[in-house]
Amino acid sequence: MELATTYLGLPLKNPVMTGASPLADQLDTVRRLEDAGAAALVMRSLFEEQITNEQIAEFAHTENAAESFSEATSYFPRMEDYAFGPDRYLEQISRVKEAVDIPVIGSLNGVSLGGWTDYARLIEQAGADALELNVYYIATDLDEPGLAVAGRTFDILQAVKASVTIPIAVKLSPFFSSPGHFAQTLCSMGASGVILFNRFYQPDIDIEELEASHRLDLSDSSELRLRLRWAAILHGRLKADIAVSGGVHTVEDVIKAIMCGANAVQVVSCLLKYGPSHMASLITGLRHWLEDHEYESVDQLRGSMSLLHCPDPTVFERANYLRMLQLWKV
Ligand SMILES: Cc1cc2nc3c(=O)[nH]c(=O)nc-3n(C[C@H](O)[C@H](O)[C@H](O)COP(=O)(O)O)c2cc1C
Repeated sequence: MELATTYLGLPLKNPVMTGASPLADQLDTVRRLEDAGAAALVMRSLFEEQITNEQIAEFAHTENAAESFSEATSYFPRMEDYAFGPDRYLEQISRVKEAVDIPVIGSLNGVSLGGWTDYARLIEQAGADALELNVYYIATDLDEPGLAVAGRTFDILQAVKASVTIPIAVKLSPFFSSPGHFAQTLCSMGASGVILFNRFYQPDIDIEELEASHRLDLSDSSELRLRLRWAAILHGRLKADIAVSGGVHTVEDVIKAIMCGANAVQVVSCLLKYGPSHMASLITGLRHWLEDHEYESVDQLRGSMSLLHCPDPTVFERANYLRMLQLWKV
């Protein structure tokens, strides 16, 4: 059974990798994940705010201008709350690279054009095999039109693309009026892959304390369906690879994502819940399922349920919506 595949031009021994998260913070965990079969690792993100805050702090130190920015940044984590400062982040990439033989992917996360994107080059120099770009942006300005919101990602991708030679994958938001066109434009600008999707952490409200809560709930498999639909719609129509991230917990989830067109699946919540050994059970389960169903390779499975190949492509379109509503009986 051939589980090997490629993602962003990188050879992977199987399609299951860890997503951006604290899972690559400890070398011990990193080695356990590799031993459990992880095909690649994505580092947690280095954030624009971290980089610019550090630059401002350096400026404040020399110019005594700390007060001018303290209020604006008070809602963000303090610099000491980040797992790694920018320099340590780069060091951590090198340490992880030395610790494992699988590809290591860096992650840059920000929303505006600026000097922070120079870290893409430093991440490459630190040894990353590829880079994920995450433009996690909440468009709260009523005067900012959709095109300008999309343009942020285009501009950042262009800046990063100009400074690195490693492949870049963009972690997409599902909240674009035309996610397919958005993804296609990114690919035409040189993105080698798209990750479906960013998980938007919606704040909850504490009605007694009148506070927003900041609790991070891990995902479950129900979040996968949105990813399946878009992987299926995009498969075979983009000049880029697709990684599914969000709601992959079981062997069946992995199989569904690949059937819909994923080149790779990224897992985080299930590993945080069950530990690195869960990686091994996903990969073994995938192998057994493919053997039982007489597939020769994971590549043979890919896209069989995509919009291009699915026996009933209308399930991904409006017809499915109408059918589901009309067939509900009380
Ligand atoms: C604790 C935690 C930290 C995360 N940190 C990052 C991050 O730094 N950058 C990023 O792009 N995504 C980050 N994510 C999102 C994951 O990469 C992933 O997209 C999301 O958890 C959905 O996948 P899952 O359902 O397998 O958890 C984080 C998720 C968790 C749970």
